[in-house]
Amino acid sequence: MDKPDLEMLARAARDAASRAYAPYSKFKVGAALLAADGRLFTGCNVENASYGLTNCAERTAVFKAVSEGATRFSAIAIAGGEGEVAMPCGACRQVLAEFCQPETPIRCVSLDGAVVRDFTVGGLLPGSFKLYR
Ligand code: THU
Repeated sequence: MDKPDLEMLARAARDAASRAYAPYSKFKVGAALLAADGRLFTGCNVENASYGLTNCAERTAVFKAVSEGATRFSAIAIAGGEGEVAMPCGACRQVLAEFCQPETPIRCVSLDGAVVRDFTVGGLLPGSFKLYR
C-alpha cells in the first residue's frame, strides 16, 4: 500500500478543529482518519453543558467512520494545542487501538500546524485491552 499522506491528513484535522464545539474549555481539537478503503473521516470535540457528556475529536471521527462502514484505519492525525501538540487521551487511545494496527501512524500537530510530532498507535498504548476468553 502507498504511504499515507500524513500532511494531507494533518490539514484535514486542523480544518476539523475549526468546527470544534468547545464553548466551555475553549480547547479545540480535530481528528482525521484515513480508512483502509481510502475514505477520509474527520471529527471535532463536542462539549456539553453537562461537562461529562463531552465527546473527544478522535472518538467523534471513529464513530462517524464506523457508522459509515469503515472499521480499519491506516493513518490518524490529531490537531490541537498552541505551541505544543495535544496528545490523544487514554480513552481515545483505547478506542483507536480497536480499529488500527500497533504500527498505524498517528501524527499530532498544533492548531497552527507549526509543531508536528509522529507516533504510532502501539507506541502510545502498549498492551491495549482485548477480550480473551
Ligand atoms: N479532547 C479531545 O477532543 N481529545 C482528547 O484526546 C482529549 C481532550 C477535548 C475534550 C474537551 O472538549 C477538551 O479537549 C478539553 O478537555
